[in-house]
Amino acid sequence: MKLPRQFFAPLAIGAPAPLRELPVRLERMIHFVPPHMEKLRARVPEMVKQVDVVLGNLEDAIPVEAKAAARAGFIAMAKATDFGATGLWTRINALNSPWVLDDVTEIVGAVGDKLDVIMLPKVDGPWDIHYLDQLLAQLEARHQIKKPILIHAILETAQGVNNVEAIASASPRMHGMSLGPADLAASRAMKTTRVGGGHPEYKVLADAAPATPDAPRAAYQQDLWHYTTAKMVDACAAAGIKAFYGPFGDFADLAACEAQFRNAFLMGCLGAWTLHPSQIAIAKNVFSPDPAEVAFAKKIVEAMPDGAGAVMIDGKMQDDATWKQAKVLLDLAKLVAA
Ligand code: GLV
Ligand code: MG
Repeated sequence: MKLPRQFFAPLAIGAPAPLRELPVRLERMIHFVPPHMEKLRARVPEMVKQVDVVLGNLEDAIPVEAKAAARAGFIAMAKATDFGATGLWTRINALNSPWVLDDVTEIVGAVGDKLDVIMLPKVDGPWDIHYLDQLLAQLEARHQIKKPILIHAILETAQGVNNVEAIASASPRMHGMSLGPADLAASRAMKTTRVGGGHPEYKVLADAAPATPDAPRAAYQQDLWHYTTAKMVDACAAAGIKAFYGPFGDFADLAACEAQFRNAFLMGCLGAWTLHPSQIAIAKNVFSPDPAEVAFAKKIVEAMPDGAGAVMIDGKMQDDATWKQAKVLLDLAKLVAA
């Protein structure tokens, strides 16, 4: 069942106003920062000018002995930085970990009024979202936080994929979802050792290419993540929340990173994670609409001002449905230009 967005409004005085619409903002790259590393934390004020979202990572990739330092580092970073229009997110530890309760209570208590989104890893079902939803409602009431903190789920377990639709509509706090290809690969027992992207051995055989002695049968890499990305995008769109591609771990292969991000963008994702500064420009470029596509979209809208009927433009039929597609591109272009 999809709950109306007003449903979660807590009873306490001073609690946040009911959430009716997700904020419209650019989130082309969710840039990951390890907050226990002082040197990297010091770069955040500069980073804020380059990215749409800064995320302090507390979960995987943060060593066990640095968990508390990462949490404290995130709080220090949040207090010291003026984020302006840039989003501030954190990725907390998984709900079955020994750190997560401190992550949520300490961070919301200290900087809950600056925090936009909590990214929750390893979500298996709507029950995980309900738990965090209630905890946030209690903490927001206790600390008189006026703006509701949103929840972003990582889709990275086979069980989560099974429950993706229920997760997407589990709470009015749901901001969106990211595909987590590394944990998902492990959860499915895929025979890989990668963080996202394709695999040279996962191929589609091409009938059209003639066999030669050097290339006995032509083959092209397939997108390993197509099925789950499509499933996630449909679940998110149906629930009115946002879909994202997650991490790409081969920092040296910028072309493959761009290809993965572009597939995600075309399929409906709004952004991706950037784990390395070299991926920021790629995400910015890929998740901003192509000017030629925008120009064509403009032609459609100008030719059909009321969005109805059918016209031919450059030999291609346009109708009510392509008008709606054009609006998606134009709205995004407007947001990028703002
Ligand atoms: C991200 O957390 C992933 O597992 O890919
Ligand atoms: Mg993961």
